Amino acid sequence: MRREIGNGLPPGSRAPSAVQTFLLWRWPFEHLERCRGKHGSSFTLRATSRPPLVFLSEPDDIRAMLAAPADVLHPGAGADTIEPLVGGESFMLRDEDEHLNGRRVILPPFHAKVVREHAELVAEVAQREIASWPREAPFALHPRLRALTLEVVLRTIFGACERLTDDRLYALRDRLLAMLSVTASAVFPEPLLRHGPGRRIWTRFLRERAEVDRLIHAIVEDASRAGEGSSDLLGRLLQARNTDGSPMSPRQVRDNLMSVVLAGHETTASELAWAFQLLAHNPVVLERLIEELDSHGGEEYLTATIQEVLRHRPVFLFAIPRAVKQPIEIGGWTYRPPARLLGCIYLVHHDPALHHEPQEFRPERFLGTGPSGYTWLPWGGGRKRCPGLHLAMLEMKTVLRTVLASTTVGPAGARIEHPRWRSVIVTPHAGSRVVLHPRLHPRLHPRC
Ligand code: HEM
Repeated sequence: MRREIGNGLPPGSRAPSAVQTFLLWRWPFEHLERCRGKHGSSFTLRATSRPPLVFLSEPDDIRAMLAAPADVLHPGAGADTIEPLVGGESFMLRDEDEHLNGRRVILPPFHAKVVREHAELVAEVAQREIASWPREAPFALHPRLRALTLEVVLRTIFGACERLTDDRLYALRDRLLAMLSVTASAVFPEPLLRHGPGRRIWTRFLRERAEVDRLIHAIVEDASRAGEGSSDLLGRLLQARNTDGSPMSPRQVRDNLMSVVLAGHETTASELAWAFQLLAHNPVVLERLIEELDSHGGEEYLTATIQEVLRHRPVFLFAIPRAVKQPIEIGGWTYRPPARLLGCIYLVHHDPALHHEPQEFRPERFLGTGPSGYTWLPWGGGRKRCPGLHLAMLEMKTVLRTVLASTTVGPAGARIEHPRWRSVIVTPHAGSRVVLHPRLHPRLHPRC
C-alpha cells in the first residue's frame, strides 16, 4: 500500500488519549479543524476506552466508506456508545442481515407519504407547546423543544390508538426526559467516569431507566394482549420476525422502540435549537424568512434555511463509526480491525473547497440548486442513512412556521452559543437561549 507506515493508520496527535478525548469533548469544532489543518483530510484520534478512530473528510473517501460491503464495515458495532440507552437488542447495534431485517420493520412508518399524514398531529403539538413559551424574556429553548419532539415521536410510534392515553404518554415522556439527562454528562460516553464521583449520576440514570422500562413494557403488554394488527411502529414490531423466523422478544421490541425514541427526538430538538440560535444572530436571514412565510407563497427559502442550518450546525459531527471487520482500502490507506472509520460531516460541511465561506450562515447558497451529493451529509448515508429525515423536516418546518407566525426571535447573548455534547450529538451549550418578541402584525393562520 502507498502509505502504510508505522501503525498503518493516518497521522494524528501524539498527545495522551485522555488529552485527545478532552479536546474533542470541550472544543469539538476547533479540535477537528486543527487536526485536519495539521494532519490532512484523514487523521487518527485516540480516545480513552475506544479503538483508534480514523476521521475521513474527503467526500470521495466518505463515499467509499458508505458503499463498503456489509461484512467489511460494521456500523452496528461502531454504535456501542449508545447501548446503555437503546439496549443490546436494538437493530441499530446489529450488522448485516439482522440490521437490514430491523430496518425493514422500522422504515415504513417513516416513509414520506406516511409522514405527510402526521402533519396535523405535528402542528397541533407544536401550537400547544409554543403557546406556553415565555415572551419578552430570555429562556432556554432546548428543554422545551425536547418535550415537543419527544411527544411527536411517541405519538407517532404508538399511533393514535386508545392504548396510549394522554396520562400514560406524559408519564412516559417525563420519565424519558429525566432518564436522558445523563446524556449531558461526560459519564455517558466515558465508562471510566462511572465510578468515583460519577457514580451518583450513573446510578440515578439506571434507576430512571428501570422506571421507563416498566412503563414501556406495560404499553407493549397491553398492545400484544389486544392483538390489533396496527400499522404504527409498535404494531409492526409485534408482528415482525427475526431472520430465523422467530417473533421479536419483548426485550427486542423495547430496545427497538427506544432506539427510535432516542434517535427521533434529541436530534430534531437540537437541530431546531441551532436553527433558532442562527436565526436570532442573523436578523437579515430571519427577516427574509418571515417575509416568505407571510406571503403564503412557496417554501423555497424555508427549505434552504433548514438545509443551511443542517450544513452549518449538523448535530452529528460524524456519521456512526464504522468498525472495520475486514481490510479495506480507502484513499490510499488500508484499514484493518480494530480501527473505526468516521465520516466527518462537520469537516465536509466546513471545507472552503466545497462550500464558499463555510463559516457564514447563508441559506441563499442552496436557493435554486439545493445541496449536492457527498458535500452535504446531515443524514449520514449508505445502509445507516437516517430513516427519520422526512419526519424531522416536517417537524422543523412546522415549528419554525408556528413560532414565526406570531413572534420574532432575538438573541439572549452577544454570540451564538458554543457546542456541547449530549450523548453522540452536539447542542448549543446554554440550551439555545433566545427572546421571543410578539409581532405587531401576527400571521393569523400559520400554514403547517
Ligand atoms: C434533524 C434531525 C435528525 C438528524 C440530523 C438525523 C441524523 C441522523 C444520522 C447522521 C444518522 C446516522 C447515519 C449514518 O451513520 O450513516 C441517523 C440515524 C438514525 N436516525 Fe436520524 N436524524 C434526525 C432525526 C431523526 C428522526 C426524527 C428519527 C425517527 C423518527 C430518526 C431515526 C434514526 C434512526 C432509527 C437511525 C439509525 C438507522 C440505522 O441504524 O439503520 N432520526 N440519523
